[in-house]
Amino acid sequence: MMATRPRLIFIALIVCAILFWTLLGIFDFIKVEIDRNIDGHVRSNSPPFPDDRFHHLFWVVQISDIHVSRFHDPKRVPDFTRLLEEDLKVIDPHLVLATGDLTDAKSLDGIGSTQYKDEWQQYRDALQKSGVLKWTKWLDVRGNHDAFNVAELKSDSNMFRTHSVKGREEQYNYIENVHIDGSTYSFVAMDACPKPGPKRPFNFFGVLSNESLTELEELSRQTKNSNMTIWFGHYPTSVIVSPYPGVRHFMRGATAYLCGHLHTLAGLVPNMYTMQKSGGLELELGDWKDNRKFRVLAIDHDLMSFTDVSLDDWPIILVTNPKHALFTTPLHEPTGRIRQSSHIRILVFSNSDVESVTVSLDGKYHGLAVSSWKPLYVLPWQPSDFSTGVHEIEVTVKDILGNEKTIKQPFSVDNTKLSFDVLPRMILMANMASVMQVLFGAVYIVYMSVMLTLRFYWRHIAISASLPSCLVNCLKVWSTRLCMLANTDKIFYPLMIFNIYIAVGSN
Ligand SMILES: *[C@@H]1O[C@H](CO)[C@@H](O)[C@H](O)[C@H]1NC(C)=O
Repeated sequence: MMATRPRLIFIALIVCAILFWTLLGIFDFIKVEIDRNIDGHVRSNSPPFPDDRFHHLFWVVQISDIHVSRFHDPKRVPDFTRLLEEDLKVIDPHLVLATGDLTDAKSLDGIGSTQYKDEWQQYRDALQKSGVLKWTKWLDVRGNHDAFNVAELKSDSNMFRTHSVKGREEQYNYIENVHIDGSTYSFVAMDACPKPGPKRPFNFFGVLSNESLTELEELSRQTKNSNMTIWFGHYPTSVIVSPYPGVRHFMRGATAYLCGHLHTLAGLVPNMYTMQKSGGLELELGDWKDNRKFRVLAIDHDLMSFTDVSLDDWPIILVTNPKHALFTTPLHEPTGRIRQSSHIRILVFSNSDVESVTVSLDGKYHGLAVSSWKPLYVLPWQPSDFSTGVHEIEVTVKDILGNEKTIKQPFSVDNTKLSFDVLPRMILMANMASVMQVLFGAVYIVYMSVMLTLRFYWRHIAISASLPSCLVNCLKVWSTRLCMLANTDKIFYPLMIFNIYIAVGSN
C-alpha cells in the first residue's frame, strides 16, 4: 500500500468515532440519574403505614408468550389449563394480565405464519372450561404472533377479536381500574402490533401510529388521580417504533411497564429488568412457551413488589415490606413508609398448608411470621435498626408436605439504590430501531467506501505478500472482479444511484 494508506486509516478512524458517539447517544443508559431524594414521593410520610392487618393490599398475576400451538409441545396447553384451574385458585389474583403471543400462529415448518382457528379455540376453551373468568378479571393484549397475517382489525384472520377476552369487547388499548380500600390502581394495556400485521418474520418490532399515541395519551391522562399506574403490553419499549416524543414519554407516570416478547433471550438474560429515566421500572417476563414462567405482583400500601416463578415451584414467597431494594422507585412510590412500618409483611402462596415462615435479617434469626389473614404473614420489626445502607432479609417457608424454600433479597430503609445489570439495561433502554439505522449506515458507508476506493485508487492497492498464498489468490481474484465492476461505467453509475436512492430516497 502506498501513500493512500494513512489517508484511508484516517478516514476509517473518523467513521469509527462518529459511529461510536452515535451508539453512545442511542444507548445512553450509561448516565441514568434518578432523583434519590429520600422523600421523593408526596405520600412518603403519611399513613397508612404497613402494619399487621390485611388491608391496602392486593396482587395480580402476569403471564406472557403462551404460544398455544397445534404443532409443538403437546403439554403446553394442558399445563396452561392446570395453571388456570389449580395454581391461580391458590394464588387468587385480582387480575390476570396476559401480555401477548397468546397463540403461536407458526406454520408446521416453523418458517411461515398463519392464524389457525383451532389454536385460538384452544386458548378460549382453556379460559372458559377452567372457570377462571368467573372469579377473576382476565386482561389480554395482542403480541406479534397474534397479529401475523392480520390485514386489519376487522378481518376474519384477526381472531383476537373473536376468541380473546378483551378482543371480543373490541378493546386493544384500554384501562382497568382496581379499587381497594378507597384507593384506585390503574392498569393500562398497550397494543403496539403493526397494523396491518405482516407475516413472519416481519413484525419483530412494534409500531405505534399517531392515532394509537393519541389514544394512549388519553388513557394516561385518565390515570392522573390514581394511587399507582402500571402499564402492560407485549413489546419492550426498546423495540417499539413510535413518533416523537416516543412511547416512554407516555408511560412516564407509571411505576412499572410489564412486557414479554424477548423470552429472556433464550435464557441469556433471565432477569430482564431495568429502571427507565422516568424513574419507573420496565420488567420483561420470561415465556410460558418453553419455561412455564409467570409473575406475581403485589401492591401493598402503594409499594409494589413482584416475583417471577415457574409452574409447580411451590411455595411462592413475596416480601412486600420491606420491599426488594433494587426495585424501589422513590418518584412513584411512598418509599418512606418502609421506615414507618411496624411489621415485616410477606405473602406466601402454597398448594398445601404452611408449617412455618422463618425470617432472618442480616443473617440473624429474627422470628416466625404468623398468618394474620391468609396468605399474608407478618412479624414485628424496628426499621430504625436498619436505618442506613443495604441489608438482607431471608425468608424460609416450610409446608406440611416437607417442601422448603428460601429466598434472600436486599432491602433498604433509606432508599439506598442498587444498580441493574448492564445487559438488561442495554436491551431495554436502547432504541433498537435507531441501533438498526446506525448499523445500516455503517454497512452502507463501508460498502460505498470500498466501491469508491476501488474506482479511484485501485492502482495503488497491493495485497500484502505476508498473507498465506491461497488467501492472496482469493483476494486477488475477488478484488480484480470488484475493480472491473467499479470501473465499468454502465454498471457503476446505476449501482451508485440505486444505493443513494435506498438510503435517502425512500422516505
Ligand atoms: C391513595 O391516594 C389517596 C389520595 O391521594 C390517599 O388519600 C390514599 O391514602 C392513598 N392510598 C394509599 C394506600 O396510600
